[in-house]
Amino acid sequence: MNHSREKLARLYQKDHIAKSYIDERFSRPLGRVQHSCQVDCINRIIERYKARHLLEIACGPARLTSEVRGFEEGIALDRSDAMLEIAKSRTPVELPWQFMKGDAFNLNFERKFNLIYSFRFIRHFKLKERNKIYRQIKKVLNPGGFFIFDAIRHNKPILLRKYESGGKIEVYDKAYKNKAELQNELINAGFEVVDLYSCIEHFYIQACISRISHILSMDNMGFRTIRFLEKLKTSTPLEWTVLCQKK
Ligand SMILES: C[S@@+](CC[C@H](N)C(=O)[O-])C[C@H]1O[C@@H](n2cnc3c(N)ncnc32)[C@H](O)[C@@H]1O
Repeated sequence: MNHSREKLARLYQKDHIAKSYIDERFSRPLGRVQHSCQVDCINRIIERYKARHLLEIACGPARLTSEVRGFEEGIALDRSDAMLEIAKSRTPVELPWQFMKGDAFNLNFERKFNLIYSFRFIRHFKLKERNKIYRQIKKVLNPGGFFIFDAIRHNKPILLRKYESGGKIEVYDKAYKNKAELQNELINAGFEVVDLYSCIEHFYIQACISRISHILSMDNMGFRTIRFLEKLKTSTPLEWTVLCQKK
């Protein structure tokens, strides 16, 4: 079994990591803006393409799952029991999700899906493993079906990442040099890139606003300011939400 796959799966099986995941990454203004960009993006795509049958891969504690709307039925899959337990408890019962333990590298479904999405997961693998995931996704996606995921454009300096992770960087993150590198990877994997939605346009300024507003207990004002800055478009965002289609 591949070492990086096992390492990632083991990390998120730990109870304390599963419990603190959302709070540590998405409770401060910058994380909240990032989260709301992703939720809005997924919901807009579901509405625009009338995607009814969804699969979420590596749903974690249902950060996104619990806020996705407009579909008929969905399966949310993860390898971690600890994550799935939290995911179930956080998701409103009226949402048509079924939670399932499973492995992204071995997707076995009788049926196919119109839309598959996966966030903060594929980025943790090197190309060979990413290609294996793409093949699994293609296997269970309808012809013309959509696939959404997040891709980092810009690698935060190693010192900043170390500081954020309390001194230890535990997982690999793939960062793309530019759009062309990302597009080529997806074309080679048999997808057509439909759109790239940028998220966190001015990372350094927005990270400072987030930190200062949090220290001053002015998180809501920080959130609004960071979100306002998203309107000022650049060609150098922190990451993209990628929409692609099975060819
Ligand atoms: C960083 S979390 C992302 C959670 C969520 N997608 C989000 O964006 O907040 C990564 C998730 O991948 C799950 N995971 C790790 N290896 C997996 C695998 N081989 N198949 C399915 N899920 C896996 C972990 O259990 C964890 O919940």
